[in-house]
Order: sequence, then structure tokens, then C-alpha cells
Amino acid sequence: MLEKDICYELLSAYAETDASLKAQITRQIAESLKSGTFNSLKHLAVPLRPGRPAQPELRPPKDMPRRRINSAPAGRIALIHAIAHIELNAIDLALDMILRFSNRQLPFDYVRDWMSVADDEARHFLMLNGRLQELDSFYGALPAHNGLWQAAEETAHDLLARLAITPLVLEARGLDITPQLIDKMKTIGDTKTADCFAIIMEDEIGHVRVGKNWFDYECGRLRQDPISAWQKAVNTYFHGSLKPPFNIEARDAARFSAAFYQPLATPTK
Ligand SMILES: [Fe+2]
Ligand SMILES: [Fe+2]
Repeated sequence: MLEKDICYELLSAYAETDASLKAQITRQIAESLKSGTFNSLKHLAVPLRPGRPAQPELRPPKDMPRRRINSAPAGRIALIHAIAHIELNAIDLALDMILRFSNRQLPFDYVRDWMSVADDEARHFLMLNGRLQELDSFYGALPAHNGLWQAAEETAHDLLARLAITPLVLEARGLDITPQLIDKMKTIGDTKTADCFAIIMEDEIGHVRVGKNWFDYECGRLRQDPISAWQKAVNTYFHGSLKPPFNIEARDAARFSAAFYQPLATPTK
């Protein structure tokens, strides 16, 4: 079979600085992959950081303005903008998951799975940017926080740690928080934003599941016990705390059992 390598397309999406274009290119690559255009992944040197637009201005998390979420648009715009920024980072994280570890002899299904995640994240970004435009704003209009890529850089050398942290701590945290955001949007009568968040919630369960599957696969290859390997990676690379309450139902749906995270939960006061 003729080899058609996906790495150059992936690298162009990763390096793209225009956020909407990055999302569109990512969706096109995912579509081509599904239709059988690509069948191999070569290893290329990948820059430590993806391409990013000049706006939004990136600030340390502590310098981000806090806004009340209510029926006035300003607070909702700030919230949707913050989540759009997370989705943009999530596109690059999924692409990075493929490109960064392309020398690890992983099955091609690894590429298919993470490309499907990247496609979802691109769709989420475009959907939220569309919602911002309906509210007379756009992605880049507000500052955003610069801490999101930190976990990627710190785990760039270690696939097991990357899988432990980005899907199984950060995306899993999204499962805990998003239902409250959906309820809040419904309470203030913004059903359109509530619908966007509900789509994201459903898809993110799948992302945690993909992360967990490949985490288990990598533990198998390295002959490590998944629970203790995950806890060790979290203690080493995650600088926050695992805050209950957890959305155990959603985490269970992602086949991420409480035996992993419950022992590391910060005690509730
Ligand atoms: Fe997402
Ligand atoms: Fe995700």
C-alpha cells in the first residue's frame, strides 16, 4: 500500500497562528483521515509551542479579571471566551499528543483517536466563537490566561505522564464543572449557550475515555500498574489539587474509575 503520511498536515495545523483557520484545517485533516487519505505517521521535530494569534493577550491566571455571570452579556462573554481559549488549547494538545510522541511506535489507531478528539475540539472552538459573535464579541476580544500550555511542556518527554495529566486530570475536571455551567446558563435563560456546553460535555466524556484507553495501553507496554502509575504522575506533574465533588457518573461513563482519583482528593472542609 502506498504510504501517505499525515505528519506534515498535522504540523501545519499546529503551527497555524489564526485560531479559526487552525480549527478549520484541523477539521479538514480529520475528514481526510476518516476517508482513508492517510495511513502513516512519520516523526518530525515539533516546536515546543503551537502557533497562536497576537490576540488575545495572555496573562497569568491571577491577573485575569473576575466577572459575575448573570443575564447581562459581559459576564457570559467572559465565560464563553475563557472556554473558547481552553478549546483552542485543546486542539493543539490533541495534535501535540500525536506529533510529540510519533517516535513511540504506537498503532495507527492512536492517530485516529486523537485526531477525532482534535476534530471535536476544533468544532467546540468554532461553535463558541460563533456564540461570541452572536453576543457581539469574538475570540481575542478579551485577555486569556497563559497557564494552559504548561502541562504540555512539562510532560513533553513522557507519554504516560501526558496521558495521565491532560485527559485524566484537566479534561476530567471539565466533566465535574460543566454541568453547573449548563444549569447556570439555563437559570439565566441563555439556552443557546447551555446547548453549546451540553454538546461539549457529551464529547468530553469521549475524550476522557480515549485518554484512559491509551493510558492503560501505555501502562501495559511499560508493565506498570495503572492506578499507581497515574497517582505517581499526578503527584509529580500536577501542581493543583484534585477537588471534589467529582462527577463520578460522567467519569464512570468514561471508564475512569474512582479508585484512581478518590485517594488523591483534597479533603473537603
Ligand atoms: Fe472541547
Ligand atoms: Fe476535550
